[in-house]
Amino acid sequence: MNNFELNKILAAVLVALLAAKVFDIAGNSLVAPVVKLKRDVLVVAIPEGGSAEHSVKEKALAAITPLLATANIANGEKSFKKCIQCHAIEKDKPHGIGPSLWGIVGRAIGSLSNYAYSSAMKEKASAIWDVEALNQFIHNPRKFVKGTKMTFMGIETDQERADLIAYLQKAAH
Ligand code: HEC
Repeated sequence: MNNFELNKILAAVLVALLAAKVFDIAGNSLVAPVVKLKRDVLVVAIPEGGSAEHSVKEKALAAITPLLATANIANGEKSFKKCIQCHAIEKDKPHGIGPSLWGIVGRAIGSLSNYAYSSAMKEKASAIWDVEALNQFIHNPRKFVKGTKMTFMGIETDQERADLIAYLQKAAH
């Protein structure tokens, strides 16, 4: 009697497990398309996130021209103290460790015949030092001219570079 009841209980449990499995399989196949759809959405999302991160790393330096309109030349002159150990800025003053920067804005890159530029700087000689080129160079000299012999870390703050470039612009007149 006890054994019979135990068998009945075991049988009931087995039927229940079987039923659960059957419903499970049926359920899975029913919801399968929904799961697949969710996966597809994720697959699209991952490259998007990846490229966003990439563009942050490679973020281009913003143009300096808009900041120049309100740049402070007196502050630029103060910032030029960071350059003065190597660069003269007055007309007819001889080169220092670096070439004279008199009239630098609008001058061809590496173009003074009486200064010994690095070959890296000479390779850029077909371009002009416009305000945007100066902005890139002063922000990160070794990135803009790979292999330059100018050993200067660069100026991180946009406003400070704008002030300095406004001062350089003025130092040609
Ligand atoms: C430690 C010395 C040193 C300091 C500080 C320095 N420079 Fe230079 N700079 C150089 C040298 C050296 C060169 C020549 C680089 C070459 O030929 O690769 C140069 C080249 C340049 C040129 C290119 C000139 C041309 O005729 O093409 C510019 C522009 C310039 N520097 C701007 C600046 C500014 C602006 C600062 C200050 C924020 C500064 N430099 C600070 C040493 C320096």
